[in-house]
Amino acid sequence: MKPATFVLFGATGDLAKRKIYPALYQLFVDQKLPSSFSLIGLGRRELSHETFQSNVEQSLLNFSRSEVKDAAVIKKFLRAFRYQVLDVERKEDYTKLLRVVEEREEELNITPNRMFYLSVGPEFFETIATNIHESGLGSVDGWKRLVIEKPFGHDLESARHLNQKLNQAFDETEIYRIDHYLGKPMVQQMGQLLHSALSEQELRSRSMASIQISANETLGVEERAGYYDHAGAIRDMFQNHMLQLLMMLTIELPNRSSVEEVGPLKRKIIKSLQPLHKMDVKHHIVRGQYGAGEIKEGQVVGYTNEPGIASDSQNDTFIAARLQSNDPFWKDIPLYIRTGKRLKEKVTRIVIEFKLEGPLKDLLIIEIGPNEGIFFQKSQSVQEHSEGELPIRNQVSFLKEGVTDAYESLIYDALMGDKTYFAHWDEVELSWEWVQPILEAYQENLLPLHIYPAGSFGPLEADELLARDGFHWWFDN
Ligand code: BG6
Repeated sequence: MKPATFVLFGATGDLAKRKIYPALYQLFVDQKLPSSFSLIGLGRRELSHETFQSNVEQSLLNFSRSEVKDAAVIKKFLRAFRYQVLDVERKEDYTKLLRVVEEREEELNITPNRMFYLSVGPEFFETIATNIHESGLGSVDGWKRLVIEKPFGHDLESARHLNQKLNQAFDETEIYRIDHYLGKPMVQQMGQLLHSALSEQELRSRSMASIQISANETLGVEERAGYYDHAGAIRDMFQNHMLQLLMMLTIELPNRSSVEEVGPLKRKIIKSLQPLHKMDVKHHIVRGQYGAGEIKEGQVVGYTNEPGIASDSQNDTFIAARLQSNDPFWKDIPLYIRTGKRLKEKVTRIVIEFKLEGPLKDLLIIEIGPNEGIFFQKSQSVQEHSEGELPIRNQVSFLKEGVTDAYESLIYDALMGDKTYFAHWDEVELSWEWVQPILEAYQENLLPLHIYPAGSFGPLEADELLARDGFHWWFDN
């Protein structure tokens, strides 16, 4: 791996502490970081290098999954860390940063390969990318890469605008858009596992009746009111994670594929989705918001009583959708997707239901999180098993060994220059295109907002969406 400088914007933020430092540390322990590696953390507050390093150390002690938490190993890891104060709006700060970066590159005698990781709010992406470009930080002999986290834009138009601005400073091949669902081990492998579990002919002859993709969360809005109340479930989860899950499920990937192979396959799927018209959205989409209710931890307030949320907020915390593809392979199979906050259980799961005569309908279940696995299950046993007795599940595939946490694998890939599991602009744009009529229907109040009790499986209307076609959500009990 080439030597690299990791320039981290938002180095004192929550994401850095919880995800980025633990991931980098694990890569270090596994000897998967470049031998000459330097990290420059940026933040608004004045901090000494030592304080920064001890803050990072604290986050490792709190959040690292590593078994190696030896003081000496951590100390060695932290030697690469420096801190620099930076106000993202101040051009002079970028000039100073350039000097610091160059000094470190000279000190370590490394070619300028620079990874700019923007662990900051999306409202800063454009400013930072422009300033990197104008300050000369982006003029390198080696490579430069920009890593950003979703959401990429607020709607189709703003996403296009942002992308255009980013492209003035970075080429598409240099932009790494993190959608952390693409870093999940099961998501990377499920297309392939599915096709190896069932041959194409078998898939056809057994004939799939429906596909359900659920990402149910138990958490509420937490301390993210400022962001979430403008995003809602549709922008926070659906436009990105959920449509990516659909794309990754429906493409068949060879063993370890390149971005050149994955991109066109994903685009083909998203392009095959029948577009919605905003006047018809109400027949295909259920919009929900959690009310007060009981979860495992006890009674919780409704969304509009959460701190920072307006009492008349119409924001969605749940969405269920019925999609249909025109792709010859997936055509005629209804695709149901749902995601929501404050639901009964935390689970990301795909269920493929097969069409068979009689009461025996076989299910193929792909568990993505918190547990992972692919199983066959006879639906009859789901319905008939008595309390305490688990239905029989036959594991059909095992995960490849050595695949790790989403952030570890994505940061490693970004350092290696492998964009396979990052969201390409074309997919992002096509996803926004598909979602745009829904955003407009929400905006113009063309469909109702259903309140569901916290701790439930969402509004009953989401059940009706499937019942109309003769289906029901599996495992809602
Ligand atoms: C994030 C969303 O992208 O994904 C959060 O912003 C959500 O609102 C989270 O809670 C869910 O991720 P996971 O990996 O826990 O399913």
